[in-house]
Amino acid sequence: MNRPHTPTTHQGAPHGHHAHGHRHDHGTVDQAEILDLDAEILAEHTASITAWLPLPTSPDHVVDLGCGTGAGTFALLDRFPDAHVTAIDASAEHLERLRTKARARGVQDRVRTAQADLDEDVWPDLGSPDLVWASASMHHMADPGRALRNVHDALAPGGLFAVVELAGHPRFLAANAPEDRPGLEERVHAAADRLQVQHMPHRGADWGPMLTAAGFTVEGERTIAVNIEGSHSEAIGLYALGVLQRIRSVTAGTLSPEDLTALDQLLDTSSPHSILRRDDLTARTERTAWAARRTG
Ligand SMILES: C[S@@+](CC[C@H](N)C(=O)[O-])C[C@H]1O[C@@H](n2cnc3c(N)ncnc32)[C@H](O)[C@@H]1O
Repeated sequence: MNRPHTPTTHQGAPHGHHAHGHRHDHGTVDQAEILDLDAEILAEHTASITAWLPLPTSPDHVVDLGCGTGAGTFALLDRFPDAHVTAIDASAEHLERLRTKARARGVQDRVRTAQADLDEDVWPDLGSPDLVWASASMHHMADPGRALRNVHDALAPGGLFAVVELAGHPRFLAANAPEDRPGLEERVHAAADRLQVQHMPHRGADWGPMLTAAGFTVEGERTIAVNIEGSHSEAIGLYALGVLQRIRSVTAGTLSPEDLTALDQLLDTSSPHSILRRDDLTARTERTAWAARRTG
């Protein structure tokens, strides 16, 4: 199987630029805001994945499973101007945000939302879509094998399932930062990964064999390395703040007192050591996409 690895580097958005007409007051960055920042910062990379999908004709009906605030939904609506998208998520708040954005973009007639917990036995009727997209959502499933089989059975014959996953949280700091605790970010991530293995064992999994076991023919796999220089990007500073706040919330009890103090200084937005004041941030992450066809 062809597995190109495409490292890319882009300038972050210039200071003050923002796609959603709002900026955070620098308190806690909540999950919906992190998803919006992720969508904004990785927009080009997401577009390159939608462009890569092996689709002989443009799909009419697309389902975005675990759509969050709509990163994939809007990328797919842009890529396939004649398609409509059914966006499904367990979170009413995320769906509300997605609908607000759809209205602001004037695409509300092309989007339908459905609130559903995909861990439940009965799924909503997906309506024979030509394309199902699931980005950073399949690893949340309690029984991913069952979820993949459900998607297989719901797709129209010949339809495509695009699974996009990430191995871990993005990184932002240089190895020698912060000055008094070099390597802090890697230690904090290592602590988070140790905890994550227990309650999210499928994050970073190889979805190819799981898709095959669910009846799909895997037609492509592609890993994209993301490395976005963020010295002038407000979005990257806020994204870094939000990600590290979430990691702190799960790892605080396991970090050394020195690391916790250094992390808290980075997260204190009124401190001279605040991550928002650093001009050396880069957003580094990886996305892997699998394109799997229902052939049977
Ligand atoms: C990391 S976010 C990804 C969101 C979006 N796909 C994106 O790429 O930005 C994971 C999403 O999966 C949703 N989710 C997690 N478990 C779920 C479940 N059991 N049923 C439905 N949605 C779920 C969460 O509410 C969240 O919006």
